[in-house]
Amino acid sequence: MFPSYNDFETEIEPEELRKLTDAVLTKYGYDFGNYAQSSFKRRVIVVLRKHGIKSMDVLIQKIIHDPIFFEQFIHDITVNTTEMFRDPTFFKALKTLVFPVLNTRSEFNIWHSACSTGEEVVSLAILLKEENLLHRAKVYATDINHSVLKKAESGRFPLRNLDLYTQNYNNTDPKGKLSDYYKIVDNEIVFHRELIEHVRFKHHDLAVDHQFFKFDLILCRNVMIYFNQKLQNRVFELLHASLFLNGFLALGAKESLIWCKIADKFESVSDHEKIYKKVKL
Ligand SMILES: C[S@@+](CC[C@H](N)C(=O)[O-])C[C@H]1O[C@@H](n2cnc3c(N)ncnc32)[C@H](O)[C@@H]1O
Repeated sequence: MFPSYNDFETEIEPEELRKLTDAVLTKYGYDFGNYAQSSFKRRVIVVLRKHGIKSMDVLIQKIIHDPIFFEQFIHDITVNTTEMFRDPTFFKALKTLVFPVLNTRSEFNIWHSACSTGEEVVSLAILLKEENLLHRAKVYATDINHSVLKKAESGRFPLRNLDLYTQNYNNTDPKGKLSDYYKIVDNEIVFHRELIEHVRFKHHDLAVDHQFFKFDLILCRNVMIYFNQKLQNRVFELLHASLFLNGFLALGAKESLIWCKIADKFESVSDHEKIYKKVKL
């Protein structure tokens, strides 16, 4: 029997976490065993408190016997924070360093892995459209969380974020105005359908799933921070295998591949923006 939890008792032993991740893996095939332990533990504590669950055994039983609760668990355990044109200098760097290379191809493939609710997907689509490249792009956008994928597919975002998104967009040296691309309907920003009608939204788990296509550009931003070194290595190998030679990999500001096993197969294109090029098979 594991100890019980209340608002003041927040310690979870590693063996309890292991029991939880083993149960999830066995029942549903999701592997959280190599998520960074401290942040994963914090999220589990949030779930326990939210549902007033007092022991790990109770949480595990609920997860095993209630698939709807499990979907909610996935939502609560993953951090879905995102925004349009997050880190505008990153999008500026894509335009100056990557778009000219894409422009040499009659068509190219882009993968937004861990796309969350899709703000990054629409942001890139707008910039591709401004450079007259959007119609040449085949785009996949994936995430582990079904509910964020459903939101991403809608292309609708909360109106309260509009000022921030407009400011971010204006900081990317854009060719137009953000308002050229949306209407406001029922307190939501509704982006023009043409920006995402070509995007295939798909469930894909970086921890267990395999290569499904080959890409010229992969964005994998602000998700590696939640993985331990072992899982990061697995994901870098997957991303490397999923890129064409000379394809680009874009990571988040706090992420880097310098410590990963296959770092020598990439070359830095922008140290500051964490954009890399695959230079070896
Ligand atoms: C903080 S958001 C980042 C969203 C976006 N890339 C950005 O930078 O704004 C992290 C996303 O990673 C997803 N995620 C977490 N673990 C994952 C996994 N194993 N496979 C695929 N996506 C995962 C979460 O569901 C979440 O939507």
